Amino acid sequence: MEGSADTAKGWLEKLVDGLVEKGAIQSATVEGAFRRVARHHFLPDAPLEQVYGDNAVTTKVGAAGQALSSSTQPSIMAGMLEQLQLKAGQRVLEIGAGTGYNAALMAEIVGPQGAVVTLDVDEDIVAGARAHLAASGHTAVQVVRRDGALGYAEAGPYDGIILTVGAPDIAPAWREQLTEGGRIVLPLVLRSRQRSIAFDKRGDVLTSASIRSGIVFIPLRDTPGASENVVPLVDDSSLVIEVADTARIDAGDVLRLLGLAGSRVDAGLRDVGPEEIAALATWLELHDADFCHFFERISEGAGGRVPRLVEFDVFRSTFGLYSGETLALLRRSPDAPGELQVVQLGPGGSVAERLTSHLAAWDAAGRPGNERLRVRAFPLDVALSDVDAGSAVVVRKRSSQLVCDWT
Ligand SMILES: C[S@@+](CC[C@H](N)C(=O)[O-])C[C@H]1O[C@@H](n2cnc3c(N)ncnc32)[C@H](O)[C@@H]1O
Repeated sequence: MEGSADTAKGWLEKLVDGLVEKGAIQSATVEGAFRRVARHHFLPDAPLEQVYGDNAVTTKVGAAGQALSSSTQPSIMAGMLEQLQLKAGQRVLEIGAGTGYNAALMAEIVGPQGAVVTLDVDEDIVAGARAHLAASGHTAVQVVRRDGALGYAEAGPYDGIILTVGAPDIAPAWREQLTEGGRIVLPLVLRSRQRSIAFDKRGDVLTSASIRSGIVFIPLRDTPGASENVVPLVDDSSLVIEVADTARIDAGDVLRLLGLAGSRVDAGLRDVGPEEIAALATWLELHDADFCHFFERISEGAGGRVPRLVEFDVFRSTFGLYSGETLALLRRSPDAPGELQVVQLGPGGSVAERLTSHLAAWDAAGRPGNERLRVRAFPLDVALSDVDAGSAVVVRKRSSQLVCDWT
């Protein structure tokens, strides 16, 4: 028994060292929490190798094979906890209890003078989280069965709120249950894709403090619009398209376009680094309602169907515009990988031209990234004519309006 505890300790140290090395953990506070909480208490049925890899681990699957619950990838959790900037003695609400691991990490940070409440929708998940938290000695964490969209006013207001589940909008309850100056971190769908955004509350307005790309969370269940942006193009979901308005997507049409040879034009951008690709995707998603993003898992021996823009492990992704009859997508030039090309699939040239002009505008603006993007979330009843919205992009949601500009 002692031997296996030592083994787990060794694995944990290796995991945390790796998270520090890759820059996912940046503060001593978050590092200390990760070093003190053993992840295997929260994934009792998974092999240690999997528990202490930097991976998401699925823990509940729905009838259609979709993941309903999981333990988030540790580097993503660390990044979001860095965004949240919790301090000792604070009160925090988590939406998406899952295994309870993230709640335990937060309990370590806020300490005995603070409080952690975590919500989930399924009784079995709630019971599991309670059992795991008891096994790891974090019995002060309150696990409640409740639709996260409602928050939990009974134990509020909170200095911090974190969602570990994808949100199509900012529910009024979350803003109301934050203290003045409090911070909420959530995987928020801008138009079609999630970004992890930390917002600070001043009055009725939430203003972004930091924005991170590269996250994909299970969507909130029972929430209108939550799974609206992703359309599987093949039965096993190995190829999906993400768009703002999925009503316009006919999977057969999109697959037919992807099968065309298409034409290529120079996108006019040189020396585009990997991190700039994420910045460009955000710019395009916010500037054009026809933005589309493809994500593909390539099986062994298969060539893949989408142009090569971003590749990692067995995954490939690209993005561009979809007009309803024509796709214009980006790929890296096979001869000069720092250069981008526009691949046009379908009739006419105007979609490719529109894409190229967005790229030129992004370049001319100094290739702004997430660090220069500011998102302000206003309640619906605020007249934006009273706000210094200038040339900002406005995204209207069911219960909030996002005003996005680059500084
Ligand atoms: C990625 S998991 C959360 C991981 C968790 N924080 C951990 O440390 O293991 C997302 C969770 O959100 C929960 N969820 C989905 N919709 C929800 C809703 N409307 N309200 C509360 N929780 C919800 C799911 O049941 C799932 O357990």
